[in-house]
Amino acid sequence: MRILGIETSCDETSVALLQVDGKTVRLKHHETSTQIPIHERYGGVVPEVAARTHVAELISLLDRAGVFKKKKSFDAIAVTRGPGLATALRVGIEAAKTLSYTLDLPIIGVNHLEGHLASAWLLSENRKRWKFPVLALLVSGGHSELVFMRDFCNYKVIGRSRDDAAGEAFDKTAKLMGLGYPGGPKISKMAAEAPADTPVFDLPRPMINDPSFDFSFSGFKTAVRRVWEDLPTNKKKESKTIKGLCRSIEQAIVDILVKKTVIAARRFKPKALVIVGGVSANSELQKKMSLAVRKELKGVIYLAPPKGFYTDNAAMVAAAGAWRFKKDKRGYNWKKMDAEPELDL
Ligand code: KG4
Ligand code: ZN
Repeated sequence: MRILGIETSCDETSVALLQVDGKTVRLKHHETSTQIPIHERYGGVVPEVAARTHVAELISLLDRAGVFKKKKSFDAIAVTRGPGLATALRVGIEAAKTLSYTLDLPIIGVNHLEGHLASAWLLSENRKRWKFPVLALLVSGGHSELVFMRDFCNYKVIGRSRDDAAGEAFDKTAKLMGLGYPGGPKISKMAAEAPADTPVFDLPRPMINDPSFDFSFSGFKTAVRRVWEDLPTNKKKESKTIKGLCRSIEQAIVDILVKKTVIAARRFKPKALVIVGGVSANSELQKKMSLAVRKELKGVIYLAPPKGFYTDNAAMVAAAGAWRFKKDKRGYNWKKMDAEPELDL
């Protein structure tokens, strides 16, 4: 089966063609147009601007994928239906519905979160080692969840953020320090550059010892704000201080994510553990999580998405579509499909 994947839930317009034949998975085409330089000016994603930019980008991306050629290059369509920004989601959905109707092809509305779960499955080495049950730490700009994957398309969310997501904690604290958007990569870069003698800031690790598997980052953001506001003006401009604060922020967030995931793994005993979502691009998180799995979760397989597939992309949407089509070849009725901005797993 050849699947056309379309992603427009937030600030990336992305199109992919994924071929899945039994165990062979080939990414035949993949192109993502990022809106980050546009939203950077506003310090965050502006929904109306995102939707308009998707409209301007999507047709050219589909054209370059060969979607409008006479000879069909795909057999089914997978499009993100939620969660995400309503107007942005609708751009991809309406394009996908039109293609489904005019080409008489099955369509599936993909849950963006399942797309992130499927992102790690795009890597052939991961598919070879993949063993259910899998415990997934899904950390993005809008979500921080611990997901117990019993099988493909069969999940239980065992922990979630009670307020802000880990990605948001990166984004908002970076904004506070005037580092720009998105905050995760900026903080991570500054933290890596911090010399050994940079100041260490004492930041809280909310809910790290809470018996639930939930997260909370709202109080953490406030704690960073207080530290920042208490700094004398000359220190706020000093590179060493900013880098030190970035390192302390990154370490606190990574500590929380690693510790809670390890505790959840001890309790739910998965065969494999995977980290997915934009924040999984964080090299400190990758390093500490893989070390924790090796040292504290003997025998558990550690998986992460291939490089470049951490943040939003259409290849992961097509992959999740493949999981769903395997269960039901008919897909959805395009007439009944609409954006579901608040969709959960
Ligand atoms: O998955 P994603 O592309 O979009 C959502 O579905 O939300 O995730 C975007 C988030 C942003 O909050 C961004 O700051 C964060 O992922 N992010 C990172 C890194 N790269 C992206 N956070 C920490 N370290 C990174 N290297
Ligand atoms: Zn995402």
